[in-house]
Amino acid sequence: MLISLKPVGILGVGSFLPEKEITNFDLEKMVDTTNEWIIERTGIKARRVADENTATSDLATEAALKALKDANVTAEEIDLIIVATITPDMAFPSTACMVQKNLKAIKAASFDLEAACSGFLYGVAIGKQFIATGTYQKVLVIGAETMSRIVDWSDRNTSILFGDGAGAVVLGETEEGKGILSTYIGSDGEGGKFLALPAGGSRMPSTVETIRDGLNYVKMDGSEVFKFAVRIMGRAAEESLKLSGHQINEIDYLVPHQANIRIIEAAAKRLKMPLDKVYVNLDKYGNMSAASVPVALDEALREGKIKKDDLIVMVGFGAGLTWGSCVVKWNK
Ligand SMILES: CC(C)(COP(=O)(O)OP(=O)(O)OC[C@H]1O[C@@H](n2cnc3c(N)ncnc32)[C@H](O)[C@@H]1OP(=O)(O)O)[C@@H](O)C(=O)NCCC(=O)NCCS
Repeated sequence: MLISLKPVGILGVGSFLPEKEITNFDLEKMVDTTNEWIIERTGIKARRVADENTATSDLATEAALKALKDANVTAEEIDLIIVATITPDMAFPSTACMVQKNLKAIKAASFDLEAACSGFLYGVAIGKQFIATGTYQKVLVIGAETMSRIVDWSDRNTSILFGDGAGAVVLGETEEGKGILSTYIGSDGEGGKFLALPAGGSRMPSTVETIRDGLNYVKMDGSEVFKFAVRIMGRAAEESLKLSGHQINEIDYLVPHQANIRIIEAAAKRLKMPLDKVYVNLDKYGNMSAASVPVALDEALREGKIKKDDLIVMVGFGAGLTWGSCVVKWNK
């Protein structure tokens, strides 16, 4: 049977950030670092941190409510909720099921997706399929993280980098020739060792010893991740462009994962994109893992950087190792 695929667009976008901010000056009091070092090596000036009563599903729900409002879609219309996160409220039930309950999205199926900082782009790639095939009409894709809960605040290698937040989009059918033109996702498990949270899973259940040894916190080989990121960002963007049938010089705006300004600059250089066409908010929020790309997309839209019919590329990379990108002809 031949299925004719429907064009899929982003109908609404929303984001939510906790209020509490930790600046580089605050970090100077916690670890052996300086504001200058952090800005020079990463571009980050501050990050948000959820209060102790707020979990990932709470941030995700707030972002989802804004995306629903922006899309003019009700929670009852949502067929599927995908939450991309590496900081779920708990191992199970899924954070997506908690969001489904909070939203009262009564007909939605829900699941979590784990592709670290690439998670949102993986979610868009998956959510798109259900609408393109006509299986579902409306899909909510959320990237949400409370990285502050898995970061060792006494480790200067990682504590300076991450922050908390959530971003969400509503996917649905759009006009022919518009919306998500292509998606591209990939992985290389050989590089998994460079960025991991070793304990707390079936390989190394949490014990007094794992906690004592700091194995329930993020461990990272920063320079290996950096080299990978510089390699993959440009390549992933090029792959999705190829699939979309467009050329680099046609891109109006780039929304990259917000890990390090030097990584973003390297990607922009490879793509020959001037930096005024590249969205950057990592100075305010640091790396929010799966939430970085949708929060950046939301802010770029609110600031008027993206207009109807613009061709935009979203691209990211993360633990796994994973990467993803998509090309969107903006349909709103
Ligand atoms: C982590 C990262 C910022 C480190 O920057 P870098 O330029 O590679 O710095 P290095 O790791 O080479 O460290 C240089 C020196 O600064 C020190 N240093 C590390 N963190 C520091 C900090 N917060 N403050 C001050 N000095 C620091 C190191 O100990 C090292 O000292 P040494 O030369 O005496 O050994 C960078 O590698 C990076 O961003 N990597 C990618 C991480 C990432 O994106 N992770 C998430 C993926 S989704």
